[in-house]
Amino acid sequence: MQHRAPFSPKLSLAVTAGVILAATLANAVCREPPANHLRDSHGALDMQAQMVIVNKLLAKRDFTQPPLPIDPLTWNKVVVPAGNRMTPQRVELGSKLYFETRLSKDGSVSCATCHDVTRGFTDQRTTSEGIGGALGQRNAPTTMNAFLMDPQFLDGRAPSLEEQAKLVIINPIEMGMPNKQATIDAIQGDPEYQRMFKAAYGSRPNYEDLAKAIAAFERTLVFLNSPYDDFVAGDTNAISGKAHYGLLLFYGARCISCHQLDSENPLGTDNDFHNIGISARHQNFKALAQEALDKLDKGDGLHGTDKLAIQTRFSELGRFLVTNDPSDIGAFKTSQLRNIGLTGPYMHDGSMKTLWDVMDHYNKGGEPHPYLDAGMVPLGLSEDEIDALVAFMFTLTDKRFIDQNRQMMEQQRKLAAKERPFRNTDMP
Ligand code: HEC
Ligand code: HEC
Repeated sequence: MQHRAPFSPKLSLAVTAGVILAATLANAVCREPPANHLRDSHGALDMQAQMVIVNKLLAKRDFTQPPLPIDPLTWNKVVVPAGNRMTPQRVELGSKLYFETRLSKDGSVSCATCHDVTRGFTDQRTTSEGIGGALGQRNAPTTMNAFLMDPQFLDGRAPSLEEQAKLVIINPIEMGMPNKQATIDAIQGDPEYQRMFKAAYGSRPNYEDLAKAIAAFERTLVFLNSPYDDFVAGDTNAISGKAHYGLLLFYGARCISCHQLDSENPLGTDNDFHNIGISARHQNFKALAQEALDKLDKGDGLHGTDKLAIQTRFSELGRFLVTNDPSDIGAFKTSQLRNIGLTGPYMHDGSMKTLWDVMDHYNKGGEPHPYLDAGMVPLGLSEDEIDALVAFMFTLTDKRFIDQNRQMMEQQRKLAAKERPFRNTDMP
């Protein structure tokens, strides 16, 4: 798909961003030191320790009310499905399930293994590692604010958080449960779960309500209170002069045409799909697409697509696996830019280690090839301008992670000083 949205320098758009929240969350700042001795073989922090941190992060929130800055109408009509209204009991059950390693075949993996509270709700790996150390093809996006993504997954193959959760548990290499019943068998003997399902949904443990509860918990992961938001709300000192310059460049370099960032689109994504030339470096897309169509014909619907996306080299076809539309070859969902400082490495294949790498890629206009989105053009940004855009992106991290954000920025800065593999050395 190609979208050449008209370039609009109007900063006023951003100023309307719904950013009234602030003080309520400011005192819940997370300053946990990284407890490396408590990490498992996947690199995830101990589940109990993660639960303590997440409870602290989400303290004092009334989950039955629409969270700021989400418009209440959007929250009630769009975000929260009629069949899964938010109640404290559902959130509590979902929270327990999110950290539950018994939902995986070998008992070693939970959602929080790959969406770890202390790693920006990702795994900070190139691509994710599931049961038995199996590596998938895709980089894990964050579950922070994922409830605003529509649809779910980098290729949009799941329409909702509920459906997303149902797929990952029975994906053979992620959580690896053989089927839905085996998943329920793993927890239904536990009186605690029996009590919690009853309180949340009036039911015995079952797969549908399990997915619903996890989704309800994910709808509490609202991390939209950043220095950038203070800036657009009028606090001119909230971000540095350099970051402010980066914000102007974010409009000037037309990042905004795909990464829409305003009160209607607080995540910085148009929720649409574009081929920005990430995997073009090593693909013969046309041949791969034909091969995939043959496989999909014989496959088992959504589960077939899920396996191709996670486990095979067809993963690189992106949105095409879902729509079979040639214009979607190699297209992926525009990533959210919220908390981007915490969620590297970047892109669907995790191929870029720093935001400087990302900028080098855009500065070249991506890798030229027939499926490249028409919105990708060489930018000719100077090093100072690249630094400014990176500085701006680091202001999009929620204030509860301010220390971690600063650490990550320093780490990335050091790495980028050593290597810039995507930089175009021909450019001035
Ligand atoms: C083995 C690692 C792993 C585990 C375990 C895992 N995920 Fe993920 N998650 C990923 C990867 C990789 C993707 C991207 C896959 C894709 O888009 O094809 C993803 C995508 C997502 C998305 C989509 C976000 C977006 O921006 O579209 C959500 C939501 C999510 N996971 C939630 C969960 C939940 C809930 C669980 C537990 C039931 C879970 N994940 C378990 C690795 C994992
Ligand atoms: C044509 C649409 C488009 C434009 C223009 C665009 N992006 Fe993107 N951006 C995307 C898509 C699509 C992805 C995900 C690509 C993938 O994973 O393969 C992405 C990914 C990213 C990521 C990585 C996110 C992550 O979590 O992995 C960053 C950072 C980013 N863009 C910043 C920018 C900046 C800064 C600009 C302007 C210089 C920009 N983008 C311009 C569509 C666009």
